[in-house]
Amino acid sequence: MSSVGKSTNIFWQECSIGKLERQKLLKQKGCVVWITGLSGSGKSTLACTLNRELYSRGNLSYILDGDNVRHGLNKDLCFKPEDRVENIRRIGEVSKLFADSGLICIASLISPYRKDRDDCRALLPEGNFIEVFMNMPLEVCESRDSKGLYKLARAGKIKGFTGIDDPYEPPLNCEIEIQQIDGLCPTPSSMAGQVVSYLDEKGFLQE
Ligand code: ADX
Repeated sequence: MSSVGKSTNIFWQECSIGKLERQKLLKQKGCVVWITGLSGSGKSTLACTLNRELYSRGNLSYILDGDNVRHGLNKDLCFKPEDRVENIRRIGEVSKLFADSGLICIASLISPYRKDRDDCRALLPEGNFIEVFMNMPLEVCESRDSKGLYKLARAGKIKGFTGIDDPYEPPLNCEIEIQQIDGLCPTPSSMAGQVVSYLDEKGFLQE
């Protein structure tokens, strides 16, 4: 195809070293672990603990954190709906490249809209997009308020804050759900353990 989106006269370039060769080198399979949930639901904690756990097992992963990506690639975006869509689209495309490189890409961002997450899923081969839903009640997230943003949102000083005056659409068919058990939040290591077990079971942690 020589026309894609707004570009014309462009061609796909192939190389003899592909995903299979890279996966052999890394002794694992590339995939995307997409962590979605409200601010304060524990996405970054899970991402970081999972990253460390995989590292200690000899697996290579890389975190694309919504906050961090907004410091660079996405610093031209704000939180209005169309910018959130673009934030998710770009992180989805970068995740796809990282998975193709053979890495276990951990994308951690609110990603509040179901359709956008499903569009990212559709970019990847079947089974390679693992959606992890941080199903924590708003009251729990709000009581943590480590960045003080819920307080500002309640005071009307931040407009369009997810969960307060902007929507969050929970996944309908996620691969992994993290939730409280008997009113207690799981520990970081048990959350990471849940994801590691899934990845192991599905064969991603070996070539
Ligand atoms: S997303 O909705 O576009 O996926 P993203 O994960 O990149 O959001 O960024 C969310 C982070 O930005 C939150 O952790 C919070 O610290 C901060 N933030 C600032 N303004 C908002 C807002 N209006 N809604 C949600 N998060 C916000």
